[in-house]
Amino acid sequence: MEKTIIITGGAGFIGSHVVRLFVTKYPNYKIVNVDKLTYAGNLENLADIDRQPNYLFEKADITDAAGIKAVFDKHCPDGVIHLAAESHVDRSISNPMEFIMTNIVGTVTLLNAARACWDNALEGKRFYHVSTDEVYGSLGAEGFFTEKTAYDPRSPYSASKASSDHLVRAYHHTFGLPVTLSNCSNNYGPNHFPEKLIPLSINNIKNNKPIPIYGKGENVRDWLYVLDHARAIDTIFHHGRNGETYNIGGNNEWTNIDLIRLLCRIMDKKLHRENGTSEKLITFVKDRAGHDLRYAIDSTKLQRELGWKPSLQFEEGLEKTVDWYLANEKWLENVVNGGYQQYYQKQYGNN
Ligand code: NAD
Ligand code: TYD
Repeated sequence: MEKTIIITGGAGFIGSHVVRLFVTKYPNYKIVNVDKLTYAGNLENLADIDRQPNYLFEKADITDAAGIKAVFDKHCPDGVIHLAAESHVDRSISNPMEFIMTNIVGTVTLLNAARACWDNALEGKRFYHVSTDEVYGSLGAEGFFTEKTAYDPRSPYSASKASSDHLVRAYHHTFGLPVTLSNCSNNYGPNHFPEKLIPLSINNIKNNKPIPIYGKGENVRDWLYVLDHARAIDTIFHHGRNGETYNIGGNNEWTNIDLIRLLCRIMDKKLHRENGTSEKLITFVKDRAGHDLRYAIDSTKLQRELGWKPSLQFEEGLEKTVDWYLANEKWLENVVNGGYQQYYQKQYGNN
């Protein structure tokens, strides 16, 4: 094999698309998926590629230094693409400590393992940290986040990701560890866990349940199709400059209410319901504590330097996403069984 790459969080939403892209595009790379399989980790996401000869799965917790050292000793990776994280803002509000442990302590555990494994033979090595635009805080009506925007995280989730970004840069500056970072806007697409706005709404519309919109639905997010994020990660991993950060975004801003209205129209069409049926399910609920108003990414650096750009229009991507959920009822059923019901009851009560 030409290279061995550890991908952490490969059983999650974005990680599974990154694993699939690398396993299929680079048959000469050994891809080692390291995942603890929390509620968000699901090996079903990889059922189509898990028998490929260049794919391996290691169940491990990134906060467990001995377990992670054993994985690094066994596989001696040339690169690490680090996606494992606690990723849902609402859960970070009800249980911040989990986020501190996984997102901060887990990242340092991986940095230490990479340092120890690579020692001073750093040629050709790369630690790629996958992060979020939420580290930059919240925008007003104008402006965009660039790579130079000052960090201003405002939720326990974004604060834990910001902290991990700082630590990755600190290991680069202090120890010379070769790193790249990227900060991406909101992703959507197949395999998205239905605690997040789009898949939760698809699931509720399908089951004729209320669609909970926080506050007045005026918050704005910049949505990117998950495969476009995976392609950006591939580009940055191979061609990004050592020590650099790249912002990734869709240039695709939507208020939550406009997005959900569009989704309702698509679902009415796909489910052969009369136009306007699903919109009746929209229910305004109590706002999220500290709810960031607007995120919007300026991805000029990535586009100019490395030639990446988003490939899909939002309407097209959203339709593909709905089609995937309607064609994969079993996946959805398995995911919403068990713990999901308790989470939903706690978060939304009887809505
Ligand atoms: P996800 O919640 O769907 O998946 C996270 C994965 O990490 C799961 O497979 C889970 O089992 C694994 N994991 C969690 N804790 C672990 C631990 N202690 N040890 C090992 N594995 C563990 O997350 P996602 O939405 O796919 O996000 C992936 C990464 O991308 C995260 O770092 C997130 O911050 C970042 N990101 C996400 C978005 C988005 O819109 N979802 C946007 C920008 C950046
Ligand atoms: P989410 O998918 O949780 O992503 P993030 O908080 O990381 O941006 O939420 C996207 C937007 O949708 C955000 O403004 C919060 C809002 N939202 C709702 O209005 N209702 C919901 O049930 C959820 C989960 C989110």
